[in-house]
Amino acid sequence: MTAYTYEGVLATSQRVNWKIDDIIGDDKHLDFGRPFMPESLAGVRKLDFLSPDEQRTLNQIRGLGYLVMFGLVEEYILPFVLDHARPRLAGDDYRTRALIQFAGEEAKHIQLFKRFREEFDAGFGHHCQVIGPPEAVAAKILSYSPLAVALLTLHIEWFVQAHYLESVKDDQALDPQFKNLLKHHWMEEAQHTKLDTLMVEELAAAAEPEEIEKAVDEYLEIGAFIDGGMQQQAKMDLDSFEQATGHRLNAEERERFCEAQLKALRWTFIGSGITHPSFLATVGKLNPRLREKLGAVAPAFC
Ligand SMILES: [Fe+2]
Ligand SMILES: [Fe+2]
Repeated sequence: MTAYTYEGVLATSQRVNWKIDDIIGDDKHLDFGRPFMPESLAGVRKLDFLSPDEQRTLNQIRGLGYLVMFGLVEEYILPFVLDHARPRLAGDDYRTRALIQFAGEEAKHIQLFKRFREEFDAGFGHHCQVIGPPEAVAAKILSYSPLAVALLTLHIEWFVQAHYLESVKDDQALDPQFKNLLKHHWMEEAQHTKLDTLMVEELAAAAEPEEIEKAVDEYLEIGAFIDGGMQQQAKMDLDSFEQATGHRLNAEERERFCEAQLKALRWTFIGSGITHPSFLATVGKLNPRLREKLGAVAPAFC
């Protein structure tokens, strides 16, 4: 079992906690002359039939999609965490407070990403399509068992850590305002990974071995559902790109565009989570065979 404690996580999250107005508004504007996303996640440079300016425009479309995707998944995480806390409110005061703080932070992130979207739409000058609506996505994900949903959440929060530390933090080309937003999101998500680990362990401790196996299968089913969303998003990004730049791609270019962007989206939202060592360590503790199963599936998303 993990060494994380609700008391320790609560203390850190109270220290880290920031306000939306610290991140966006007043003189804090996006610089549309700069890329928003690191290349390892955006995957735009291999599209050599696009000019550097067009690659930057596509990078920014991907930046919007990245934040909208968080807004989307946080709509399910918020009720999920509250439902997990609710049956045992009186048992452990630190647990209750840490989980409610977690839910409050996700509600704040949802609002932050809405504010960001308004700012993006105003500055970018074109409306970009994104998958959704969030309520329908949340309802679909929450229809699976709590352990499967907790595993998905653990996967998401770990890839947020990997994206910021491995790709964003040291990339000096990125727009400082967008980077600051990713930094503050990462700072609070760091505590969520620990609470997700505790949630997975609590739920697994109350489950039979076959229920744990079923939850991992359901986690993979949700992954396939998200993959379907990524296929739609790649096509939407192509439409948004053509509208924003006025550059109509030919059939071969469209195919290369969608192929490269689907690969980048898959890595961003599925591959970088399912291969994260901390995520796999938690799954391996539940059952080493299930960790191997995920390892066999992962290459399709990497
Ligand atoms: Fe978040
Ligand atoms: Fe989170």
